[in-house]
Amino acid sequence: MNNELISAIQAAFKMRFGEPEVTVVSPGRINLIGEHTDYNDGFVFPAAIDKSIIAVFAKSTDSVSMIYAYDPKESHAFSLDDVKRIPNGGWRNYVVGVVGEIQKLGKEVPPFNAVFGGDIPAGSGMSSSAALENSIVFGLNELFGLGLSKVEMINVSQKAEHNYVGVRCGIMDQFASMFGEQDHALFLDCRSLDFKAYQVDFGEYGLLLINSNVHHNLAENAYNERRNSCETVAEILNVSALRDADLEMLNAKKAQMSDTDFLKAKYIIEENNRVERAVDYLNNQKIEGFGELLFEAHVGMKDEFEISCAELDFLVELAKEFPGVIGARLMGGGFGGCTINLVDKEQMDDFIELVEEKYKAKFNRECSPYRVNLSRGTYRI
Ligand code: GLA
Repeated sequence: MNNELISAIQAAFKMRFGEPEVTVVSPGRINLIGEHTDYNDGFVFPAAIDKSIIAVFAKSTDSVSMIYAYDPKESHAFSLDDVKRIPNGGWRNYVVGVVGEIQKLGKEVPPFNAVFGGDIPAGSGMSSSAALENSIVFGLNELFGLGLSKVEMINVSQKAEHNYVGVRCGIMDQFASMFGEQDHALFLDCRSLDFKAYQVDFGEYGLLLINSNVHHNLAENAYNERRNSCETVAEILNVSALRDADLEMLNAKKAQMSDTDFLKAKYIIEENNRVERAVDYLNNQKIEGFGELLFEAHVGMKDEFEISCAELDFLVELAKEFPGVIGARLMGGGFGGCTINLVDKEQMDDFIELVEEKYKAKFNRECSPYRVNLSRGTYRI
């Protein structure tokens, strides 16, 4: 928990709106393995991290609600009678989207003021967006006693993203951010939302994220396209989601689909299988085996699912060549953001130094390494 940041955001609230009533901390997430499997009703293995959105709230006596974004130093006023998607609204759509989705549940949201900020690097693939959505729904639930369960809250967050932001995301990010547990990763079945928390201990190895500091513009469209491909193939295979398919079923109907859809579905089936194997390896302390799956997953995302980019491939190549790294892959939706690496703790500093130097030389841009700790999900202070 970043106490300094919490105080700063509470102070910013006081300056604008007076005494805060509710303060919420909502974390970003990492994902150990299982990308794009969530909206295929499959398995994922994410964890909440010690980087968060902090949101501060109080009721307002005004007829409009005011939101202030601490970092871009922008504000947005809106009327609760007229909640709608804002074209090119950026962060505003996450906030009004959550309000709109709460209203759709038949709950009344009275006027409020809020300030939010945080330390999750935007566009890094650490899900600052899910953290923001969850912070708003959790805060409003507390402020107005709306009586929403955690599952109802993450559904609100996800629908805000679908209907207001325009990304048809799965449930992984919102789930991890809401249900995370200290030092644990969550093996989650995205169909039933059943999950099991596993203590994450990689022994002599530690997790390291490296942010490529690129975010390609096509990411949102490409994300929705991937989802469409998966749904098209599921329909051809006559299953409700690719989670129910195996490679034999896929190969049998190969002639009925485009090559690119075939490869997308192949990746999903393989990746879903990798998540189960990874959990098994972790359970049996087979850390090298776990690492190998990360490298394998990256190849699948690069060649089959096609969500990598030159910067991420380069970071994974460097990791592969470095003797102290036993696994690496791009993390999150793709097209930029971070890689996740499993690195010998004693060699971590050397690896970071090497990557920083080579990345800069190749792309004339800095990359940013992060050592993250696994922490608890969204809570009120
Ligand atoms: C984004 C989405 C998630 C998930 C990942 C890829 O983070 O929000 O639902 O699909 O991409 O695993």
